Amino acid sequence: MKKYYVDPASNCNKTVNVQGDKSISHRSIIIGSLAKGTTRIKNFLEAEDCMDTINIYRELGIRIEKKKNDYTVESRGLFSFREPSKMLYAGNSGTSIRLTLGILAAQPFTSSITGDAQIAKRPMNRIIAPLSQMGAKFQSTNGYAPITVTGTSLHGITYKMPMASAQVKSAIMLAALHAQKSTEIIEPMVSRDHTERMLKDFGADIKISKNRIKIKPGKPLKARTIYVPGDISSAAYFIIAGLLMNNSKITVKNVGINHTRTGLVDIMKKMGAKITFKNTRTINNEPIGDIVAKTSNLKGTVIKGAIIPKLIDEIPVIAIAAAFANGKTVIMDAKELRVKETDRIETVVKNLKRMGVKAEEKEDGMVIYGGNKKPFKYADIDSYGDHRIAMSFAIAALVSDNGLLIKDTECVNTSFPEFFNIIKSLKK
Ligand code: S3P
Repeated sequence: MKKYYVDPASNCNKTVNVQGDKSISHRSIIIGSLAKGTTRIKNFLEAEDCMDTINIYRELGIRIEKKKNDYTVESRGLFSFREPSKMLYAGNSGTSIRLTLGILAAQPFTSSITGDAQIAKRPMNRIIAPLSQMGAKFQSTNGYAPITVTGTSLHGITYKMPMASAQVKSAIMLAALHAQKSTEIIEPMVSRDHTERMLKDFGADIKISKNRIKIKPGKPLKARTIYVPGDISSAAYFIIAGLLMNNSKITVKNVGINHTRTGLVDIMKKMGAKITFKNTRTINNEPIGDIVAKTSNLKGTVIKGAIIPKLIDEIPVIAIAAAFANGKTVIMDAKELRVKETDRIETVVKNLKRMGVKAEEKEDGMVIYGGNKKPFKYADIDSYGDHRIAMSFAIAALVSDNGLLIKDTECVNTSFPEFFNIIKSLKK
């Protein structure tokens, strides 16, 4: 188990580049595998989760190659897959297993998929329920991986989602492309919409009105060149570092700023943050820009409702900002945190307490008492094998008086292998 000691830093005026967006990288391989022709992917995220997706689609018979810095995916269109000769493996990636199940549900063969120990504890009934309504047959132990699926000719459904989840809606959309008739999905709150944007970019018949998505099958997908923007979930760590370090300004270049992902920026601004967007433009239907964060005096706030899906993965690092802010921060409506790579309500609050920050767990969120200029005392932090916990507390260390020791840091490789190199570069 790797441990990492992060010491404090200040007076930082740096520009950084983060790696490609994880959600868009997964989708570029998956949707590329369904599109006729050669899809070229630029700035693909070479992290464990996305490499697991590549391995799955190679095992399903799709030719995926690295050419110079780009990846290419060659497919003949829908139904180009072959029956896998072994159990498919999604590693730590919820997006790989859930989106792939949407496709496997429509194949004329039986296949099985599993992942690592954390994946085996994450709920899959949220996928199994709608895909079963479409006609697929599943076998699992109480809705947990490994899962075996016998694909079939699917029928379209109207599905009212019980939770806001981009993975669930994407699995249904991918299945819907293969169905006999149209499918309509109704989300309780809008979640990240990269699948919708990419499917449109590839020529699918998809209509969106507020929280309703309608997919009509039958229109073939055509291969495209995709530029993957920098991941705002990775940029989040350096945005918060820029706000919290003394006399600092950090610019993160070429980041995806799709409004379904920028909840962190919206909420930090509400807390008093100096954040601006520069050089904004659109590529492949996705808005991109540079994000500039300057040292700011933050105040506590309430975070709840429709903004939660737009910042769900950033709550651990928002909690670090909240510990520095003046006053109390209350996070509600975020029960989904309990079923992420770890139960992030528990793992955030436990680690905050180790640093001497007063914090309370709630069923659907947490309360963080800020108000101290430098609230952090030296502590040993446990990531519990969760990449976002490891990276959030590395930022806490960077802005603390004493630094922190973070246990179990290999997990950052699932989404952001360059993370600790960028941290080092901030101190030079
Ligand atoms: C993701 C969706 C979110 C997010 C995850 C990536 C995606 O999960 O937390 O890190 O790429 O679709 P849910 O769909 O479970 O909310």
